[in-house]
Amino acid sequence: MADFEISDVLQSKPDAAHASKTFYLETFGCQMNVHDSEKVIGTLTQQGYHQVDTEEAADLILYNTCSIRDKAEQKVFNRLNDYKKLVKQGKRFGVLGCVAQQEGEQIFERAPYVSLVSGSASYRKLPEMLVRLELGEKRITGLDDRQTEETFETEFTARSNQHRGYITIIEGCDKFCAYCVVPYTRGKERSRTSTSVLAEAQRMADSGYTEIQLLGQNVNSYRDTEGKKSFAELLAAVGEIPGIRRVRFTTSHPRDFTRDIVEAIDAVPTLCDHVHLPVQSGSSDVLHMMQREYTRDWYLERISWIKAAKRKISMTTDIIVGFPGETPADFEQTVTLLHEVQYDGVFAFKYSPRPNTPAITMPDSISDEVKSQRLQILLERQREIQRFTYEKHVGEVLEVMVEGHNQARGQVIGRTSQNKTLNFTTGQPILPAGGSYLPVRVTKSFPNSLVGESVA
Ligand code: SAH
Ligand code: SF4
Ligand code: F3S
Repeated sequence: MADFEISDVLQSKPDAAHASKTFYLETFGCQMNVHDSEKVIGTLTQQGYHQVDTEEAADLILYNTCSIRDKAEQKVFNRLNDYKKLVKQGKRFGVLGCVAQQEGEQIFERAPYVSLVSGSASYRKLPEMLVRLELGEKRITGLDDRQTEETFETEFTARSNQHRGYITIIEGCDKFCAYCVVPYTRGKERSRTSTSVLAEAQRMADSGYTEIQLLGQNVNSYRDTEGKKSFAELLAAVGEIPGIRRVRFTTSHPRDFTRDIVEAIDAVPTLCDHVHLPVQSGSSDVLHMMQREYTRDWYLERISWIKAAKRKISMTTDIIVGFPGETPADFEQTVTLLHEVQYDGVFAFKYSPRPNTPAITMPDSISDEVKSQRLQILLERQREIQRFTYEKHVGEVLEVMVEGHNQARGQVIGRTSQNKTLNFTTGQPILPAGGSYLPVRVTKSFPNSLVGESVA
């Protein structure tokens, strides 16, 4: 269908015609997906749709999907299967996100009642696709062939939190690690201009946001297409917007982790003192097989920059255990790396063979049992490390942003700049509102959270 016909339809349909259109959207996967969903919700609302809380109440059921590991992908097909009975009631289904891009039109074969399949690189075309859906088309696809230069920007983003919000600054990935689907599901690496990022951050500050989290599959691979700002300069510029009190960024890739990022954190107090820097393995041999293109020592050099900062910066990482060919000695090197770095948090996963990736053709020599054992050992060791890294805060006064309340315990849930949960009491009958900032003295620690009392 030609574009002019679509816009004709868009203009000729009064809002009332959409008034009863309802949608349900469920999101799986990473923060990029969560934020994409906020933009999708904004786009749908702009098109006259209303969001509802259940599949049963919706005309259009959307799943924004993740395929990073097999389990994540299976969840989506299970969900589609659970709800296919609703098709008889005239409801329509759409699959968005990474499984959509990965499986493409095969989704129509596996789940013939699905009418819309779109990867994230095609979301700009959502308004057109929705119109085609309304006109009764049964098989609408938005699939990217790794050619697009477009990013998904919309002024209608429906952010779910009033105080802190995401901004995607770079989409896609060109790194092609041997195990990973992302370069195939998210398209090629493409950055927004710093002008557009800063304008969005300013709009957020103007409407009362105090915390901004910059997002990208590899956020620090950011390249300003206008050539105005490096990633570190962009971080600083966002942090200097009046009203912004906290800036976070995730996920950093070791290969593009430069010293000026640490210098920016030291220089600009609003930049949070936390870096998430996935290492994946502590063994240079495994890193080589993973095509990470750095060694253990190279990674540890970046960690030494972070440790040498004037501020105490917390560090977290991602680990994959049981990559094909990982020997017990390789695994041991990952464990020693955890001890050497002293992370404040680790997300560890069993290697999951993924379609299209080079690693799928490597013999998956590690049994699931061994992967599980390694995962368990790793998590136990890390728990001990965190017992120590969290204990260090006892006695300190830290600023928290209030995230919510635990009414049953009379506690307030806060988050520190280092991204740690700090549950505290105030001794006051009225609890502080979500989004407020307070100084809190830490009185006790656990491996995953802190406890304290406000000192206001
Ligand atoms: N771009 C980031 C990671 C994004 S994916 C980086 O390169 O660091 C998030 C995490 O999922 C990865 O860090 C990795 O630990 C995990 N992951 C990716 N593919 C995986 C697979 N096939 N099996 C298990 N874990 C995987
Ligand atoms: Fe996946 Fe590697 Fe890209 Fe990270 S850098 S998203 S692990 S391919
Ligand atoms: Fe999953 Fe896609 Fe994010 S595979 S982790 S939703 S980039």
